Amino acid sequence: MGILENKFVLITGTAGGLGRIAALTFAREGAKVVGSDINVEANNETVELVRSAGGEMTGIAPIDLTDHEQVKKLVEEAAHAYGGLDVVYNNAAIQKFGPMPDFSIEDWRRTIAGELDIPFFVSKYAWPHLVERGGGVILNVASISGIIAGDVPPMVGHAAAKGGVIAMTRQLALEGARHGIRAVAISPGPFLTPASDRDLGDNQEARDAVTKKTLLKRFGKPEELVELAAFLASDRAAYITGVNYAVDGGATAW
Ligand SMILES: NC(=O)c1ccc[n+]([C@@H]2O[C@H](COP(=O)([O-])OP(=O)(O)OC[C@H]3O[C@@H](n4cnc5c(N)ncnc54)[C@H](O)[C@@H]3O)[C@@H](O)[C@H]2O)c1
Repeated sequence: MGILENKFVLITGTAGGLGRIAALTFAREGAKVVGSDINVEANNETVELVRSAGGEMTGIAPIDLTDHEQVKKLVEEAAHAYGGLDVVYNNAAIQKFGPMPDFSIEDWRRTIAGELDIPFFVSKYAWPHLVERGGGVILNVASISGIIAGDVPPMVGHAAAKGGVIAMTRQLALEGARHGIRAVAISPGPFLTPASDRDLGDNQEARDAVTKKTLLKRFGKPEELVELAAFLASDRAAYITGVNYAVDGGATAW
């Protein structure tokens, strides 16, 4: 029996990267997964992968998670899919990078919307459903950029937004405790996914600079992050709330 047996889980950003592996891992552990993304085709691929591995998943796409009306609709459909919501896994994000002072106002706003609005909107609309089930878990994917500064690539918007995600998680934990809701942040260091691969491009120097900051001198593999997420979402982690876990190969240790 898996550690998430009969948990109803909404995961955002399941079309690829860490979200796809999260969907596969949570379903393997017995969760009934609703996965949403803006990218329909790749999200459908994830649904197929989960089902062919024997898991249970419903895809809801396309949803633009920066639009709160669409998020509201998504959450209602997600709660309806299996009969409630126990876990919300705020994985989806979209961000811009660039140096000061050239980072444009538009890129700043897009980053705050893509990284901070999304987990707030999803948590806001999912909250009553978690309360209705007697409690639940909100997992927020932040970043080590919310803990330490980083210069490859320059990331003022990303750092501010992910610092906000960590702070929001503490607050959700405080306000959720009386309802049985736990809130936990996970902060990835460098993981090779379609997004980071695109952002780093073919700049080997930048890739080396990123992995050099880790103690293990390599990128993380998505499985190395989502196994922790599955544990944190499970009842085995019942005493864990209001905290942020770095999964970063030691990058924040020095
Ligand atoms: N990969 C890393 O090294 C790394 C490091 C630190 C933090 N993170 C965080 O981990 C999470 C997942 O990152 P990833 O590397 O897998 O990224 P990714 O770009 O591969 O996946 C993000 C998913 O979110 C979806 N998405 C983006 N904007 C959306 C929107 N408006 N509406 C609906 N869906 C949308 C994308 O289509 C994509 O499928 C993000 O929160 C990211 O900030 C990743």
